Amino acid sequence: MNVCTVEVGLGARAYRVEIGPGLLAEAGARLADLLPRRRTVVITDAHVAELHLAPLERALQAAGVTAASHVLPPGEQTKSWDGLREVCETLLEHRLDRGDLVIALGGGVIGDLVGFAAAIFKRGIDFVQIPTTLLAQVDSSVGGKTAIDVTQGKNLIGAFHQPRRVLCDLGVLATLPARELRAGFAEVLKYGLLGDEAFFAWLEAHGAAVLALDEAPLAHAVERSVAMKAEIVAQDELEAGRRALLNLGHTFAHALETETGHGEALLHGEAVGLGCALAFRFSAALGLCSDADATRASALIQAAGLPTQLCEVAGHPFAVERLIAHMAQDKKAEGGRLTFILAHGIGQAFVARGVEPEALRRFLSREGAI
Ligand code: NAD
Ligand code: GLY
Repeated sequence: MNVCTVEVGLGARAYRVEIGPGLLAEAGARLADLLPRRRTVVITDAHVAELHLAPLERALQAAGVTAASHVLPPGEQTKSWDGLREVCETLLEHRLDRGDLVIALGGGVIGDLVGFAAAIFKRGIDFVQIPTTLLAQVDSSVGGKTAIDVTQGKNLIGAFHQPRRVLCDLGVLATLPARELRAGFAEVLKYGLLGDEAFFAWLEAHGAAVLALDEAPLAHAVERSVAMKAEIVAQDELEAGRRALLNLGHTFAHALETETGHGEALLHGEAVGLGCALAFRFSAALGLCSDADATRASALIQAAGLPTQLCEVAGHPFAVERLIAHMAQDKKAEGGRLTFILAHGIGQAFVARGVEPEALRRFLSREGAI
């Protein structure tokens, strides 16, 4: 099976995303040009360390690279001030300086945390992403958004800091729990919904094969997702405009994640899947897209084993006013005005500013919130 490469065209900060099976075992050779000093630090979490750290260490060693590693507890709580301090202190302990790079091996939690540490360590050092969840391969490892969560909210302290390279080893997804795989699939279908109806139709036909990790369909799904993200990021790195489309479903998702405590009750990808279903039904309720498109969006989300209704989430019935209050805190909200990513149809998302709170109230009530 060939390795395919997607370029993220950001001029002096351009980088490539390599996608294929077996990349972890080749990581030393694939990263050698970025490691002239032949030393690095790998940061990962305990689940990933047990399954995938040793092969990476062997690959680096085979290329003559000395790699120290540091293992953090798994879970969203690691993306915190304490986690950030632990990563920065590890880099100090190993005396990394601005000519070195650090490797993030893990899901979006490790990628976001290590990316942010790399952004601020000695005013910025290089980092490489080796994403090990489907969500991280198709979304969080690409585009340079890095952050930690604080008590006031998720991802509120962070920086844009692009990785120097991303290695998406499709083989590591074999050890991912099925629920995490489905959550990542929500981010895949999001790309079809926001900007590529043909890809959405392809997912309707091949989604089950992607979830079964069949090599060719999986590679196509990751490559197409990364290519769409790369194209959008290259046009609008700092989210002044079009990049906001990548947040389809996220205004609903973040409100629901806040209500459910950012944990096992509702994984981020599950919230995004449900959020996309709600965004399409809200678009239909506002007369922006057809009911048929909203039904079609939900059908694929449901077929992937993801929630499409509020009543499927622990905590139902949710309070309308609490959800709206969370939405007003969203990073896209401007001066208290609600902003949503809505759609004129499958593959036709757009940024809708100043959405009427009354229309949202009616919609959420109709969806079963109280
Ligand atoms: P995660 O990093 O918590 O990983 C999910 C679980 O899977 C963890 O328990 C992890 O230990 C385990 N795991 C990871 N790889 C594995 C493997 N190959 N085999 C077995 N277990 C494995 O969660 P995630 O869903 O990857 O990422 C969610 C995070 O990503 C959130 O914090 C979210 O805010 C962030 N995010 C960031 C961006 C961005 O653009 N930066 C985009 C989307 C999401
Ligand atoms: N995950 C949304 C973005 O990268 O912009």
